[in-house]
Amino acid sequence: MRNFSRRESLALGAGLALTPGLALAADKPLIRRPIPHSGEMLPAVGLGTANGFDENARSDLESVIRALLNQGGSVIDTAPSYGNAEQVIGDIVAAQNARAKTFLATKLEGLEVSGNAAEAQGCLSRLKTTRLDLLQLHNVRDPGQSLKGLNDLKARGLIRYTGITTTYERAYGAAEAIVKREKPDFLEVDYAIDNRMVENRLLPAAQDAGTAVLVALPFGRGNLFREVQKKPLPDFAAEIDCSSWAQFFLKFILGHPAVTAAIPGTSNPAHMIDDLAAARGALPDARLRARMAQYVTGS
Ligand SMILES: NC(=O)c1ccc[n+]([C@@H]2O[C@H](COP(=O)([O-])OP(=O)(O)OC[C@H]3O[C@@H](n4cnc5c(N)ncnc54)[C@H](OP(=O)(O)O)[C@@H]3O)[C@@H](O)[C@H]2O)c1
Repeated sequence: MRNFSRRESLALGAGLALTPGLALAADKPLIRRPIPHSGEMLPAVGLGTANGFDENARSDLESVIRALLNQGGSVIDTAPSYGNAEQVIGDIVAAQNARAKTFLATKLEGLEVSGNAAEAQGCLSRLKTTRLDLLQLHNVRDPGQSLKGLNDLKARGLIRYTGITTTYERAYGAAEAIVKREKPDFLEVDYAIDNRMVENRLLPAAQDAGTAVLVALPFGRGNLFREVQKKPLPDFAAEIDCSSWAQFFLKFILGHPAVTAAIPGTSNPAHMIDDLAAARGALPDARLRARMAQYVTGS
Protein backbone atom coordinates (compact mmCIF):
# COMPACT_ATOMS: atom_id res chain seq x y z
CA MET A 1 0.00 0.00 0.00
CA ARG A 2 1.18 3.50 -0.79
CA ASN A 3 1.55 5.69 2.31
CA PHE A 4 -0.19 9.02 1.96
CA SER A 5 1.21 12.16 3.48
CA ARG A 6 -0.97 13.95 6.03
CA ARG A 7 -1.74 16.58 3.42
CA GLU A 8 -2.74 13.93 0.86
CA SER A 9 -4.88 12.11 3.41
CA LEU A 10 -6.64 15.32 4.39
CA ALA A 11 -7.19 16.20 0.76
CA LEU A 12 -8.51 12.72 -0.07
CA GLY A 13 -10.83 12.81 2.92
CA ALA A 14 -12.12 16.24 2.06
CA GLY A 15 -12.40 15.41 -1.62
CA LEU A 16 -9.93 18.11 -2.63
CA ALA A 17 -7.46 17.91 -5.46
CA LEU A 18 -3.79 17.37 -4.72
CA THR A 19 -0.75 19.04 -6.20
CA PRO A 20 0.17 19.20 -9.02
CA GLY A 21 -3.53 19.11 -9.75
CA LEU A 22 -4.88 21.56 -7.19
CA ALA A 23 -8.03 22.41 -9.06
CA LEU A 24 -8.54 26.03 -9.99
CA ALA A 25 -12.24 25.22 -10.27
CA ALA A 26 -12.70 23.04 -7.18
CA ASP A 27 -15.90 24.88 -6.26
CA LYS A 28 -17.45 24.47 -9.73
CA PRO A 29 -19.94 21.65 -10.43
CA LEU A 30 -18.78 18.51 -12.19
CA ILE A 31 -19.46 18.69 -15.91
CA ARG A 32 -21.96 16.05 -17.06
CA ARG A 33 -22.89 15.20 -20.59
CA PRO A 34 -26.09 13.54 -21.87
CA ILE A 35 -26.09 10.04 -23.34
CA PRO A 36 -27.85 10.99 -26.58
CA HIS A 37 -30.13 7.92 -26.81
CA SER A 38 -31.56 8.39 -23.31
CA GLY A 39 -30.74 11.87 -22.03
CA GLU A 40 -29.18 10.34 -18.89
CA MET A 41 -26.35 12.56 -17.66
CA LEU A 42 -22.86 11.10 -17.28
CA PRO A 43 -19.90 12.72 -15.46
CA ALA A 44 -17.40 13.77 -18.13
CA VAL A 45 -14.40 12.04 -16.51
CA GLY A 46 -14.37 8.42 -15.38
CA LEU A 47 -11.82 5.70 -14.71
CA GLY A 48 -10.07 3.22 -17.01
CA THR A 49 -8.79 0.00 -15.50
CA ALA A 50 -6.68 -1.64 -18.20
CA ASN A 51 -3.51 -1.48 -16.11
CA GLY A 52 -2.74 -1.85 -12.44
CA PHE A 53 -6.14 -3.15 -11.38
CA ASP A 54 -4.92 -6.38 -9.89
CA GLU A 55 -4.93 -7.92 -6.46
CA ASN A 56 -1.52 -6.58 -5.40
CA ALA A 57 -2.47 -2.98 -4.83
CA ARG A 58 -6.01 -3.50 -3.53
CA SER A 59 -5.88 -0.73 -0.92
CA ASP A 60 -4.78 1.87 -3.48
CA LEU A 61 -7.52 0.69 -5.82
CA GLU A 62 -10.10 1.06 -3.06
CA SER A 63 -8.90 4.65 -2.62
CA VAL A 64 -9.05 5.29 -6.38
CA ILE A 65 -12.68 4.18 -6.56
CA ARG A 66 -13.56 6.07 -3.37
CA ALA A 67 -11.92 9.20 -4.82
CA LEU A 68 -13.86 8.80 -8.08
CA LEU A 69 -17.19 8.46 -6.31
CA ASN A 70 -16.50 11.13 -3.64
CA GLN A 71 -15.82 13.63 -6.42
CA GLY A 72 -19.11 12.83 -8.15
CA GLY A 73 -17.65 10.55 -10.83
CA SER A 74 -19.30 7.25 -11.71
CA VAL A 75 -17.97 5.70 -14.93
CA ILE A 76 -15.66 2.71 -14.50
CA ASP A 77 -14.50 1.05 -17.72
CA THR A 78 -13.11 -2.46 -17.61
CA ALA A 79 -12.92 -5.72 -19.60
CA PRO A 80 -12.57 -9.46 -19.03
CA SER A 81 -9.13 -9.21 -20.63
CA TYR A 82 -7.79 -6.73 -18.03
CA GLY A 83 -6.42 -9.40 -15.68
CA ASN A 84 -8.49 -9.57 -12.50
CA ALA A 85 -9.87 -6.07 -12.94
CA GLU A 86 -13.55 -7.02 -13.21
CA GLN A 87 -13.34 -9.15 -10.07
CA VAL A 88 -11.41 -6.50 -8.13
CA ILE A 89 -13.87 -3.76 -9.13
CA GLY A 90 -16.82 -5.99 -8.28
CA ASP A 91 -15.38 -6.70 -4.83
CA ILE A 92 -14.52 -3.07 -4.09
CA VAL A 93 -17.84 -1.64 -5.30
CA ALA A 94 -19.72 -4.26 -3.26
CA ALA A 95 -17.59 -3.58 -0.16
CA GLN A 96 -18.19 0.16 -0.51
CA ASN A 97 -21.90 -0.51 -1.07
CA ALA A 98 -21.54 1.77 -4.08
CA ARG A 99 -23.23 -0.06 -6.96
CA ALA A 100 -25.99 2.58 -7.22
CA LYS A 101 -23.37 5.33 -7.62
CA THR A 102 -21.32 3.58 -10.34
CA PHE A 103 -21.78 3.31 -14.09
CA LEU A 104 -20.12 -0.02 -14.88
CA ALA A 105 -18.91 -0.49 -18.44
CA THR A 106 -17.29 -3.71 -19.58
CA LYS A 107 -16.71 -5.61 -22.81
CA LEU A 108 -17.31 -8.85 -24.66
CA GLU A 109 -14.19 -10.36 -26.15
CA GLY A 110 -16.17 -12.79 -28.35
CA LEU A 111 -17.74 -11.02 -31.32
CA GLU A 112 -20.39 -13.65 -32.19
CA VAL A 113 -23.69 -12.50 -33.66
CA SER A 114 -25.39 -14.15 -30.68
CA GLY A 115 -23.70 -11.61 -28.42
CA ASN A 116 -22.28 -14.40 -26.30
CA ALA A 117 -24.77 -14.40 -23.44
CA ALA A 118 -22.58 -16.80 -21.43
CA GLU A 119 -19.67 -14.35 -21.55
CA ALA A 120 -21.98 -11.55 -20.45
CA GLN A 121 -23.10 -13.67 -17.49
CA GLY A 122 -19.43 -14.03 -16.52
CA CYS A 123 -19.07 -10.22 -16.50
CA LEU A 124 -22.20 -9.87 -14.35
CA SER A 125 -20.94 -12.41 -11.89
CA ARG A 126 -17.38 -10.99 -11.62
CA LEU A 127 -18.74 -7.45 -11.27
CA LYS A 128 -21.25 -8.69 -8.69
CA THR A 129 -24.25 -7.08 -10.31
CA THR A 130 -27.48 -8.16 -11.97
CA ARG A 131 -27.32 -5.54 -14.71
CA LEU A 132 -24.41 -3.91 -16.52
CA ASP A 133 -24.69 -0.25 -17.38
CA LEU A 134 -22.79 -0.69 -20.63
CA LEU A 135 -21.57 -3.75 -22.53
CA GLN A 136 -19.30 -3.15 -25.50
CA LEU A 137 -17.92 -5.40 -28.23
CA HIS A 138 -14.17 -5.13 -27.64
CA ASN A 139 -12.00 -4.16 -30.62
CA VAL A 140 -14.45 -4.58 -33.50
CA ARG A 141 -12.82 -5.18 -36.87
CA ASP A 142 -15.58 -6.43 -39.23
CA PRO A 143 -17.67 -3.66 -40.81
CA GLY A 144 -20.54 -6.18 -41.06
CA GLN A 145 -20.48 -6.89 -37.29
CA SER A 146 -24.02 -7.40 -36.01
CA LEU A 147 -25.13 -5.99 -32.66
CA LYS A 148 -28.11 -8.36 -32.48
CA GLY A 149 -26.74 -10.24 -29.49
CA LEU A 150 -26.07 -7.04 -27.54
CA ASN A 151 -29.51 -5.71 -28.46
CA ASP A 152 -31.06 -8.97 -27.19
CA LEU A 153 -29.18 -8.65 -23.89
CA LYS A 154 -30.49 -5.10 -23.61
CA ALA A 155 -34.06 -6.24 -24.36
CA ARG A 156 -33.70 -8.87 -21.61
CA GLY A 157 -32.66 -6.16 -19.14
CA LEU A 158 -29.17 -7.58 -18.54
CA ILE A 159 -27.49 -4.43 -19.87
CA ARG A 160 -28.66 -0.83 -20.07
CA TYR A 161 -26.60 0.34 -23.04
CA THR A 162 -24.82 -1.25 -26.02
CA GLY A 163 -21.45 -0.24 -27.38
CA ILE A 164 -18.42 -1.04 -29.51
CA THR A 165 -14.75 -0.17 -29.06
CA THR A 166 -11.61 0.18 -31.08
CA THR A 167 -8.22 1.77 -30.53
CA TYR A 168 -6.75 0.58 -33.82
CA GLU A 169 -6.58 2.98 -36.73
CA ARG A 170 -6.89 0.10 -39.19
CA ALA A 171 -10.31 -0.73 -37.67
CA TYR A 172 -11.71 2.82 -37.71
CA GLY A 173 -13.48 2.11 -41.04
CA ALA A 174 -15.18 -0.95 -39.56
CA ALA A 175 -16.19 0.99 -36.45
CA GLU A 176 -17.60 3.80 -38.59
CA ALA A 177 -19.67 1.37 -40.67
CA ILE A 178 -21.08 -0.25 -37.52
CA VAL A 179 -21.86 3.09 -35.90
CA LYS A 180 -23.71 4.27 -39.01
CA ARG A 181 -25.69 1.05 -39.51
CA GLU A 182 -26.30 -0.24 -35.97
CA LYS A 183 -26.32 3.05 -34.05
CA PRO A 184 -24.92 1.61 -30.80
CA ASP A 185 -25.53 3.63 -27.66
CA PHE A 186 -21.75 4.07 -27.15
CA LEU A 187 -18.50 4.12 -29.08
CA GLU A 188 -15.20 3.88 -27.19
CA VAL A 189 -12.16 5.12 -29.13
CA ASP A 190 -8.65 6.39 -28.55
CA TYR A 191 -8.36 10.16 -28.76
CA ALA A 192 -5.72 12.53 -27.39
CA ILE A 193 -4.18 15.92 -28.06
CA ASP A 194 -1.45 14.20 -30.12
CA ASN A 195 -3.71 11.49 -31.60
CA ARG A 196 -6.58 13.14 -33.44
CA MET A 197 -7.38 10.84 -36.37
CA VAL A 198 -10.90 10.12 -35.04
CA GLU A 199 -11.83 13.77 -35.54
CA ASN A 200 -11.98 13.19 -39.31
CA ARG A 201 -14.75 10.59 -39.59
CA LEU A 202 -15.47 8.57 -36.45
CA LEU A 203 -16.47 11.38 -34.09
CA PRO A 204 -18.76 13.02 -36.71
CA ALA A 205 -20.31 9.58 -37.44
CA ALA A 206 -21.00 9.11 -33.73
CA GLN A 207 -22.59 12.54 -33.51
CA ASP A 208 -24.85 11.78 -36.49
CA ALA A 209 -25.89 8.41 -35.00
CA GLY A 210 -26.57 9.85 -31.54
CA THR A 211 -23.85 7.55 -30.21
CA ALA A 212 -22.19 8.61 -26.95
CA VAL A 213 -18.36 8.64 -27.04
CA LEU A 214 -16.05 7.36 -24.32
CA VAL A 215 -12.43 8.38 -24.86
CA ALA A 216 -9.81 5.69 -24.19
CA LEU A 217 -6.06 6.37 -23.99
CA PRO A 218 -6.47 10.11 -23.29
CA PHE A 219 -2.80 10.27 -22.22
CA GLY A 220 -1.49 7.86 -24.90
CA ARG A 221 -0.80 5.28 -22.17
CA GLY A 222 1.12 7.95 -20.27
CA ASN A 223 3.38 8.95 -23.19
CA LEU A 224 1.95 12.47 -23.23
CA PHE A 225 3.42 13.20 -19.80
CA ARG A 226 6.85 12.21 -21.09
CA GLU A 227 6.39 14.40 -24.20
CA VAL A 228 5.87 17.53 -22.08
CA GLN A 229 8.41 16.68 -19.40
CA LYS A 230 10.56 19.71 -20.15
CA LYS A 231 7.71 22.11 -20.90
CA PRO A 232 5.96 24.28 -18.34
CA LEU A 233 2.19 24.44 -18.39
CA PRO A 234 1.45 27.52 -20.54
CA ASP A 235 -0.01 30.65 -18.94
CA PHE A 236 -3.18 30.32 -21.01
CA ALA A 237 -3.97 27.04 -19.18
CA ALA A 238 -5.40 29.20 -16.39
CA GLU A 239 -8.04 30.51 -18.85
CA ILE A 240 -9.64 27.05 -18.68
CA ASP A 241 -9.03 26.41 -14.97
CA CYS A 242 -6.13 24.02 -15.59
CA SER A 243 -3.46 23.50 -12.97
CA SER A 244 -1.87 20.28 -14.23
CA TRP A 245 -0.92 18.62 -17.48
CA ALA A 246 -3.47 15.87 -16.89
CA GLN A 247 -6.24 18.48 -16.71
CA PHE A 248 -4.85 20.20 -19.81
CA PHE A 249 -4.92 16.96 -21.84
CA LEU A 250 -8.38 15.98 -20.60
CA LYS A 251 -9.91 19.41 -21.11
CA PHE A 252 -8.64 19.36 -24.70
CA ILE A 253 -10.64 16.14 -25.21
CA LEU A 254 -13.75 17.39 -23.39
CA GLY A 255 -13.69 20.49 -25.60
CA HIS A 256 -14.78 18.33 -28.54
CA PRO A 257 -18.59 18.37 -28.78
CA ALA A 258 -18.85 14.66 -29.72
CA VAL A 259 -17.17 13.51 -26.51
CA THR A 260 -19.35 12.29 -23.67
CA ALA A 261 -16.64 11.25 -21.18
CA ALA A 262 -12.92 10.50 -21.00
CA ILE A 263 -11.75 7.44 -19.06
CA PRO A 264 -8.12 7.99 -18.02
CA GLY A 265 -6.45 4.94 -16.51
CA THR A 266 -4.94 5.23 -13.06
CA SER A 267 -4.24 3.16 -9.98
CA ASN A 268 -3.14 6.23 -8.03
CA PRO A 269 -5.85 8.01 -5.97
CA ALA A 270 -4.12 11.39 -6.20
CA HIS A 271 -4.09 11.09 -9.99
CA MET A 272 -7.79 10.16 -9.95
CA ILE A 273 -8.55 13.41 -8.12
CA ASP A 274 -6.33 15.37 -10.50
CA ASP A 275 -8.07 13.79 -13.52
CA LEU A 276 -11.55 14.51 -12.17
CA ALA A 277 -10.65 18.16 -11.69
CA ALA A 278 -10.60 18.39 -15.50
CA ALA A 279 -14.38 17.98 -15.43
CA ARG A 280 -14.84 21.25 -13.54
CA GLY A 281 -14.72 24.84 -14.71
CA ALA A 282 -14.15 26.17 -18.21
CA LEU A 283 -13.51 24.09 -21.32
CA PRO A 284 -11.62 25.27 -24.40
CA ASP A 285 -13.37 26.43 -27.55
CA ALA A 286 -12.09 25.51 -31.03
CA ARG A 287 -9.63 28.41 -31.12
CA LEU A 288 -8.10 27.57 -27.78
CA ARG A 289 -7.99 23.85 -28.60
CA ALA A 290 -5.90 24.68 -31.68
CA ARG A 291 -3.55 26.72 -29.49
CA MET A 292 -3.28 23.88 -26.96
CA ALA A 293 -2.41 21.33 -29.66
CA GLN A 294 0.12 23.72 -31.20
CA TYR A 295 1.82 24.17 -27.82
CA VAL A 296 2.07 20.43 -27.16
CA THR A 297 2.74 18.99 -30.62
CA GLY A 298 3.99 21.98 -32.60
CA SER A 299 1.23 21.52 -35.20
N1 LIG B 1 -9.90 -1.10 -27.26
C1 LIG B 1 -10.33 -0.66 -26.09
O1 LIG B 1 -11.48 -0.81 -25.78
C2 LIG B 1 -9.38 0.05 -25.16
C3 LIG B 1 -8.01 0.08 -25.44
C4 LIG B 1 -7.16 0.75 -24.56
C5 LIG B 1 -7.67 1.36 -23.42
N2 LIG B 1 -9.01 1.28 -23.15
C6 LIG B 1 -9.59 1.92 -21.93
O2 LIG B 1 -9.07 3.25 -21.82
C7 LIG B 1 -8.51 3.43 -20.50
C8 LIG B 1 -7.42 4.46 -20.53
O3 LIG B 1 -6.28 3.98 -21.23
P1 LIG B 1 -4.91 3.57 -20.50
O4 LIG B 1 -5.20 3.36 -19.06
O5 LIG B 1 -4.31 2.43 -21.22
O6 LIG B 1 -3.97 4.82 -20.78
P2 LIG B 1 -4.08 6.40 -20.46
O7 LIG B 1 -5.33 6.68 -19.71
O8 LIG B 1 -3.86 7.12 -21.74
O9 LIG B 1 -2.80 6.63 -19.55
C9 LIG B 1 -2.64 5.98 -18.32
C10 LIG B 1 -1.32 6.45 -17.74
O10 LIG B 1 -1.43 7.80 -17.31
C11 LIG B 1 -1.01 7.91 -15.95
N3 LIG B 1 -1.84 8.94 -15.29
C12 LIG B 1 -3.18 8.93 -15.09
N4 LIG B 1 -3.58 10.08 -14.50
C13 LIG B 1 -2.46 10.82 -14.29
C14 LIG B 1 -2.22 12.08 -13.70
N5 LIG B 1 -3.22 12.83 -13.21
N6 LIG B 1 -0.93 12.53 -13.65
C15 LIG B 1 0.10 11.79 -14.13
N7 LIG B 1 -0.08 10.57 -14.70
C16 LIG B 1 -1.35 10.08 -14.79
C17 LIG B 1 -1.21 6.54 -15.34
O11 LIG B 1 -0.31 6.30 -14.31
P3 LIG B 1 -0.82 6.07 -12.78
O12 LIG B 1 -1.51 4.73 -12.73
O13 LIG B 1 0.44 6.15 -11.99
O14 LIG B 1 -1.76 7.19 -12.48
C18 LIG B 1 -0.89 5.64 -16.54
O15 LIG B 1 0.49 5.42 -16.64
C19 LIG B 1 -8.02 2.02 -20.14
O16 LIG B 1 -7.70 1.92 -18.78
C20 LIG B 1 -9.19 1.19 -20.62
O17 LIG B 1 -10.24 1.23 -19.68
C21 LIG B 1 -9.88 0.66 -24.01
